[in-house]
Amino acid sequence: MNFKDVLEGRRSIRRYSDRPVGRDMIVSLLGAAETAPSAGNLRAREYYVVTSPQLRLALSAAAFGQEHVATAPVVVVVCADPVKSGRRYGDRGQLYSIQDADAATVCLILAACNRGLGSCWTGAFDDTIVRDLLDLPGRLVPTAIVSIGWPDEKPTPPPGRDMTEAVHWIEG
Ligand SMILES: Cc1cc2nc3c(=O)[nH]c(=O)nc-3n(C[C@H](O)[C@H](O)[C@H](O)COP(=O)(O)O)c2cc1C
Repeated sequence: MNFKDVLEGRRSIRRYSDRPVGRDMIVSLLGAAETAPSAGNLRAREYYVVTSPQLRLALSAAAFGQEHVATAPVVVVVCADPVKSGRRYGDRGQLYSIQDADAATVCLILAACNRGLGSCWTGAFDDTIVRDLLDLPGRLVPTAIVSIGWPDEKPTPPPGRDMTEAVHWIEG
């Protein structure tokens, strides 16, 4: 796909077909995620790839019952590492690590779209339960549960907005 089609054609997908997603594909998507910029190139982010149906079901419960987390064949939990960023950047590192993780999440979902896959960035979840389920080291903060699979729906694009609401030109 060309870049504009990926940007404009990507939708959050919450219904997936039964078709599996191969391991090579997942590895390639994670490679795309890692191309994202990161503060000081510290890459203060990690990825937990979950294909186990039982664990996906438990993650779905942790995401307040969001079904696409259970029904997607693959779920990637993106985590920030504020300790790593904080060592170099102090308090500012907290923010940088979240930004590192979010930048990777954007690249991940765009790469998925480019390969014809659907995905959904899922931010509504109970951090403590997700930490326990994945046995995360204490330094990691889960920032997104990304469900990934072959789409079984074609959502209509959400309404856009008048960009004058958001853009402020300060010209010389
Ligand atoms: C930070 C963040 C958190 C989100 N959390 C959820 C979520 O918990 N569940 C969900 O179904 N979608 C979630 N979304 C997806 C948004 O609902 C979606 O991006 C938005 O409605 C626009 O639709 P689109 O992605 O198809 O353009 C989240 C997106 C972002 C960026």
